[in-house]
Amino acid sequence: MIKKNCAVFISGRGSNLEKLIKESKNENFPIQIELIISDNINAKGLEFSEIYNIDSYSIDYSSFKNKSEFEQKLLKELKNKNIELICLAGFMRILSSDFIKSFTGPILNIHPSLLPKYKGLNTHQKALDNNDKIAGCTVHFVSEELDSGEIILQKSLDIDENETAETLMNRVLKLEHQAYPEAIKQIFS
Ligand code: GRF
Repeated sequence: MIKKNCAVFISGRGSNLEKLIKESKNENFPIQIELIISDNINAKGLEFSEIYNIDSYSIDYSSFKNKSEFEQKLLKELKNKNIELICLAGFMRILSSDFIKSFTGPILNIHPSLLPKYKGLNTHQKALDNNDKIAGCTVHFVSEELDSGEIILQKSLDIDENETAETLMNRVLKLEHQAYPEAIKQIFS
């Protein structure tokens, strides 16, 4: 199988990144992680670059004049590595429509709610505040509007009686680790 070259964008912990790296070791998984991009030089997830011997590029937003220059630099790095797919995994920056149009391959994101419910942050607390009975995660294509692109796959769970935002976050994260690889397989097979 010829695998697609993928860049994973992170800002923090990187547990979804690690799951994708592990999956990509499987010869039947349709992508290989060629590059890790972080907009946070202290992101914990950058440690996976060394552990798994994958190139990483930390890019400090504040050292650019504006968003456009920052994104031009990102596009250049992606082109240098022949990246064909971007997976956002906890990347805390909103990509501009120019960036989304300029990158020719798909851009995917994972979001910790059952979209279209609870776009943005604090999704678990919002689900609890609304007395929801189910919660979950969504893998979707990235479009110009935040957390609004076409949905590829969702996974859900029942919210427990004594659930807190923290327990819910941990339970949904486990679902995320299943959902992201599944969505990628779905797209490329
Ligand atoms: C995940 O909950 C993801 O859905 C959201 O940010 C979090 C990233 O976690 N977009 P990790 O860095 O992959 O551990």
